[in-house]
Amino acid sequence: MKTLVLANQKGGVGKSAIAVQLAYYFALVLEKRVLVIDFDHQRNSSKAIRTGGLAEVSSVTSSQILTGRVDPAQINHAEFVLLPGDGDLIKMEKQAAEHNTFATNLYTFLAEIGDRFDVCIIDTNPNPDIRQLASLVVSDYVLSPLQLNQEAIDGIGDLLNHENIGIRKIQATINKKLDLIGILPNIVEPTPFQRDNFRDLSAAFARLLIPLDNGFAAIKKTTAVPEAQAAGVPVWKIEKTSARTAWAHMRPVFSKIASHMGVE
Ligand SMILES: Nc1ncnc2c1ncn2[C@@H]1O[C@H](COP(=O)(O)OP(=O)(O)OP(=O)(O)O)[C@@H](O)[C@H]1O
Ligand SMILES: [Mg+2]
Repeated sequence: MKTLVLANQKGGVGKSAIAVQLAYYFALVLEKRVLVIDFDHQRNSSKAIRTGGLAEVSSVTSSQILTGRVDPAQINHAEFVLLPGDGDLIKMEKQAAEHNTFATNLYTFLAEIGDRFDVCIIDTNPNPDIRQLASLVVSDYVLSPLQLNQEAIDGIGDLLNHENIGIRKIQATINKKLDLIGILPNIVEPTPFQRDNFRDLSAAFARLLIPLDNGFAAIKKTTAVPEAQAAGVPVWKIEKTSARTAWAHMRPVFSKIASHMGVE
């Protein structure tokens, strides 16, 4: 099983939307066995996936994976499963004495369930806390959506070098195998402001962007994504020209992410 975490301390950049849509891509297009873990108490991914009804929803919730030993036998025997978020997730950070145990429990659970799924996708909350740290510590890959505004671009330094959850810090210490697939500009608008920001970003952080045949990967702003998320369905199932256009742009990005992970 390959584990991918969507992470960025910035809120509203599309972590949940991309987590859910990537899960659909892996499960329904590539026909892989997919486990989704929602570590955000806002539960946006859980809500979308529940609404769509395309995955089985586990009665074991994500905080339970952190707080105790969960036997994989308790998890639905299905090829597409969601471990939903729950209200207890916000209590994790305060239990500082337990943080190592939380990360160990998550690591053990993923190791034990690893032969039941091909891909695990973890959606995280936008706080630099133990849920994000534990996710980065156990994952093989990290993908960081971001928006093309100055504040988000300034935040890349933190994303890499934050004292607790900086990706480079984690790569250098507790998870040497963590592979940053890249930063993925999302909700990209064809304004001169965003074009300039994309140009500056490409100049300063080219090695962090995801190369495609025709430039760097990015996902445009489109009504198809919020519509698909509200209905809990894949973007390609929305029967509108705008959705077909959006999916034509998104699909090569998702395909590149999958091939980076060695999942084809
Ligand atoms: N490419 C896109 N075009 C238009 N809207 C988008 C796009 N990607 C995401 N959105 C919308 O932007 C909003 C924020 O996205 P999302 O909830 O996925 O962000 P997030 O990073 O998970 O936020 P949080 O940090 O609060 O968890 C949602 O309404 C989502 O549907
Ligand atoms: Mg989210």
